[in-house]
Amino acid sequence: MNRRPRRNRKSEAVRNLVQETKVGVEDLIFPLFLVEGAGKKIEVDSMPGIFRFSIDTMLHEIESCLNLGITTFDVFPAYPESLKDPFAKESYNPETFYLKGLREIKKQFPEVCLMSDVAMDPYSSDGHDGIIQNGKILNDETLEILAKMSLAQADAGVDILGPSDMMDGRVGFIREELDQHGFTEVSIMSYTAKYASAFYGPFRDALDSAPKFGDKKTYQMDPSNVQEALIEADLDMEEGADFLMVKPALAYLDVIKLLKDNYPLPIAAYNVSGEYSMIKASAARGWIDEDRAMMETLTAIKRAGAKIILTYFAKDFASLNR
Ligand code: PBG
Repeated sequence: MNRRPRRNRKSEAVRNLVQETKVGVEDLIFPLFLVEGAGKKIEVDSMPGIFRFSIDTMLHEIESCLNLGITTFDVFPAYPESLKDPFAKESYNPETFYLKGLREIKKQFPEVCLMSDVAMDPYSSDGHDGIIQNGKILNDETLEILAKMSLAQADAGVDILGPSDMMDGRVGFIREELDQHGFTEVSIMSYTAKYASAFYGPFRDALDSAPKFGDKKTYQMDPSNVQEALIEADLDMEEGADFLMVKPALAYLDVIKLLKDNYPLPIAAYNVSGEYSMIKASAARGWIDEDRAMMETLTAIKRAGAKIILTYFAKDFASLNR
């Protein structure tokens, strides 16, 4: 045998020399959940180690994350039922706690790269990402609301908007609106291929945002499909997205690879709540080595082609690899 692949695995030093993929803390975006009020830090039942913070405790959390090297945060609001309505009006109320919280974060930590979520569901009494009429989700009417929400978030100082709603044409619509109001520097990370997935369950617990009827299959993609991701990516590319995202990550590594191979934009992947909770739950039972499972998961997502990973493991990763 003149070819023995094991020679390149013989020691840690050699293994490190030939290592093709390495995840760094700079690749990660940490999702955070914001609630109204003060002094709150409430663990999400289905996501051990992940909390709903009020703005004061969130600022402390961000500070400790910055010390670990995490620089980018995606903040999601959890609204009480009393502030929800069919048109998500609270999403662009300048006095709403989410927008005030975003402002506060940028004021306190101007160096933070702040990402937000553009979608109606946290503010919608129907729990959907669009306006509903006779049981149907209206596309073009929803764009108007997404644009108002986007402007309000840009005005609050957000660096990257994350439209996660899957309405047709939203990236272009939001881009135009932003530019017309002078927000040419605000980026858009489009949820390009967002699938109608069971893996969002724990997130919907965290936000109390589950749909009140039906499901999201008329706007989120069918898990069976991959060709369709190319159509979505084409549109996002044309409409001016700065990043393309695939979500969830683990069950869609082929989609990540496909977009990576076909588009010059940076590819992001969302390692979603259910993917996090599966590892946490089995580790809590002693069935899996949590740190190794986390490292392997994040490495696989990056190996598939995602430069950027949104993950609830960001803080655990940063602590483990400091
Ligand atoms: C809202 C949104 C969802 C997630 C991010 N933005 C849920 C959904 O579409 O129902 C899921 C994130 C996760 O599961 O971690 N549009």
